[in-house]
Amino acid sequence: MKLNPIVFELEQKINQYQTDLEAIRLSNQLALESCCQIEQKLRTSQQMLQLVMDTLPERIFWKDRTSSYLGCNQAFARDAGLSSPEELIGKNDYDLPWATTEADFYRQCDNRVMISGQAEMGIIESQLQSDGRQAWLETNKAPLRDPKGNIIGVLGTYQDITPQREAEIALQEVNQKLNAQSTELKAALQQLQDTQLQMVQQEKMSALGAMMAGIAHEINNPVGFLEGNLSPAETYIKNLLRLTDLYQQKLPTPDPEVERLVETIDLEYLREDLPYLLDSMKEGVKRIREISVSLRTFARADTEKLVMFDLQEGLDGTLHILKHRLRANEYRPTIQVVKHYSYLPPVLCFPGQLNQVFMNLIVNAIDALDEANHGKGFQALQANPNCLTLTIELSDNQEFAMIRVKDNGVGMTEETKQRIFESLFTTKAVGKGTGLGLAIARQIVVEKHHGTIEVQSQLGEGTEFTVQIPVNPTPTSRECFRCP
Ligand SMILES: Nc1ncnc2c1ncn2[C@@H]1O[C@H](COP(=O)(O)OP(=O)(O)OP(=O)(O)O)[C@@H](O)[C@H]1O
Ligand SMILES: [Mg+2]
Repeated sequence: MKLNPIVFELEQKINQYQTDLEAIRLSNQLALESCCQIEQKLRTSQQMLQLVMDTLPERIFWKDRTSSYLGCNQAFARDAGLSSPEELIGKNDYDLPWATTEADFYRQCDNRVMISGQAEMGIIESQLQSDGRQAWLETNKAPLRDPKGNIIGVLGTYQDITPQREAEIALQEVNQKLNAQSTELKAALQQLQDTQLQMVQQEKMSALGAMMAGIAHEINNPVGFLEGNLSPAETYIKNLLRLTDLYQQKLPTPDPEVERLVETIDLEYLREDLPYLLDSMKEGVKRIREISVSLRTFARADTEKLVMFDLQEGLDGTLHILKHRLRANEYRPTIQVVKHYSYLPPVLCFPGQLNQVFMNLIVNAIDALDEANHGKGFQALQANPNCLTLTIELSDNQEFAMIRVKDNGVGMTEETKQRIFESLFTTKAVGKGTGLGLAIARQIVVEKHHGTIEVQSQLGEGTEFTVQIPVNPTPTSRECFRCP
């Protein structure tokens, strides 16, 4: 039977379509298999990435431009109290256990990184974690960019540095405690040094005072004999001379033996010299009396209470005691003393102690002059003499007695000037200075008398100390005055 040509043609086409379809099906199957393979590879690589991220001890997270989380590793999810990283996606810091202030801080930091396009490394921040633990983190944040370089979010990593941070804080606390203890110890040491100074000062004063008072007392008696006997002795001598005169008148030719004695004793010269001799003896006794008064003034025992005292008398008395050091010696002429004393009313003070201050200042000035004299000849020193200038005056507001002790000695370096009031600071040779003089002076002036002591000095030119003592301490400040 002959087939209808149309049917034949259709059959042909159907066969062709079936063949094509089979080819398409085969090709689709191949494509599908390839897709499956790619998907499998992708999944494997994603799993590998997650595995790597989860293995790292660091927490890793990334956020979009609105600071909503896009992903994280397992460690981060744990800190956030989530069971898997997927739970984090879409959340922000305010949805997590952190404190609001911490979330604010993280948000500000994200914005800074995204706006500047610059990574921030080593940010130390706190994080309240899901288990209520307050952790400390060291965080790094970097801008997250798409392939075209546009910033699409932020990538962050951090590590928990709580143990180090806690150790650091504990160390800081220990340091603070140590500092506090060291400050306390310093204060205690200072107090100990002050007490030691006070004791040295008391010891020095009482030993010196007792010795001086004793000497003054011992001198007084013999001086009293001398003073008491000098004037009758003068009368007796005058009478004896009158008698010899009368003998000479009545017996103009004496016995040769008498004549020989007159020649031997040089009666003529004796008569002339005797009045001078008596005058010089009187002067000597007067000076011994002055020394005795100075000794007693210096050693005044009334240091226990405030008394009215003439500072001028104190300064002069101290100077008197130091006269032996002012005199000329084989190395230098006499030190010149210039006094500028203005009117000063008596001052309510501890006189014995202020005398000690004057003594320390004047001895230091003399030492400084002697030091400056090294290597200078006697004549050079005569041309440019050593000079000690003492000034006493009332301050402009009449409230303070001002005492200045100035020398043109060796002067001080800046470093010495800074340290002179430190106890035990001295630039003098061993055995010459103990470094206590000015520390004691400062204590007496500042702490005992509520005054001030200042120094001005120029190296090679000289030094001036200015002491200010309140003339009339107010009743309240009087109460503050501590007895030595
Ligand atoms: N007038 C002065 N000129 C120069 N230096 C001075 C003068 N007064 C004090 N100094 C310096 O200050 C230091 C401290 O003086 P301070 O009186 O306290 O102790 P010192 O004189 O050395 O010993 P001390 O007085 O205990 O015997 C001195 O060693 C000296 O270097
Ligand atoms: Mg001294």
